[in-house]
Amino acid sequence: MPRKKFVAGNWKMYTSLESAKALAMDIAKGLVGDTKVTVALCPPLPYLTAVAWAIKGSSVAVGAQNCHYEKEGAFTGETAPSMVLDSGCQYVILGHSERRHGLGETDDLLNKKLKAALAAGLEVIFCIGELLSEREANKTESVLETQLKGGLAGLTAEQMAKVVIAYEPVWAIGTGKVATPDQAQEAHAFVRKTISGMFGEKVASELLIQYGGSVKPDNAATLMHLPDVDGALVGGASLKADSFLAIVKAAG
Ligand code: PGA
Repeated sequence: MPRKKFVAGNWKMYTSLESAKALAMDIAKGLVGDTKVTVALCPPLPYLTAVAWAIKGSSVAVGAQNCHYEKEGAFTGETAPSMVLDSGCQYVILGHSERRHGLGETDDLLNKKLKAALAAGLEVIFCIGELLSEREANKTESVLETQLKGGLAGLTAEQMAKVVIAYEPVWAIGTGKVATPDQAQEAHAFVRKTISGMFGEKVASELLIQYGGSVKPDNAATLMHLPDVDGALVGGASLKADSFLAIVKAAG
């Protein structure tokens, strides 16, 4: 069976309550009757419930941008996976480079978060990607392998059905510098091969691997029709309904 494309918008720390609801509703309206592509929106945490309500009954899913690994407890400012689920989310993004590199999240921590999120019933968009210095030192594959082996350690093949990998070269995030089709395809094929080694051929062939990093309407079609690219995780271009919808259309 061909893999269904999956496009997710990562709104990061942008929007207001009103603009988040309006953006989500415009996107949902623009996708009425269009079921070719799976679509999810990941607003800032305080707006999750409002956005989920605003587009309830539409084909568009909601995701959070982070969660904690404990079920509850004295963790000031944190959010348990079950709370994310309760807020109307189906997905959670984990391992984004802005959290790995900006906030020091490690593979071990992400492994705990991933297991907790899956146990709570969330699906996970797990981000991996190399820094520019690592690419230039020819370390892209070893970095990706370490992030996959560390982050996905101890997961079962069954759990992997609820995990999407987002390959996001750090040097392409928010920079306007997009990976070339060759660079993207090469990295995605490597991810699929690594997953095959870890979880078997079936899991690898069904795994969705999104590309992320400066995806825009004008480069989306080329990237998303590469053999091992199954969609996109979109930052900047997901903050306007028309550009995000154009990217979703390019995936279909
Ligand atoms: P960008 O962000 O599309 O703005 O490069 C992608 C991401 O951070 O997921």
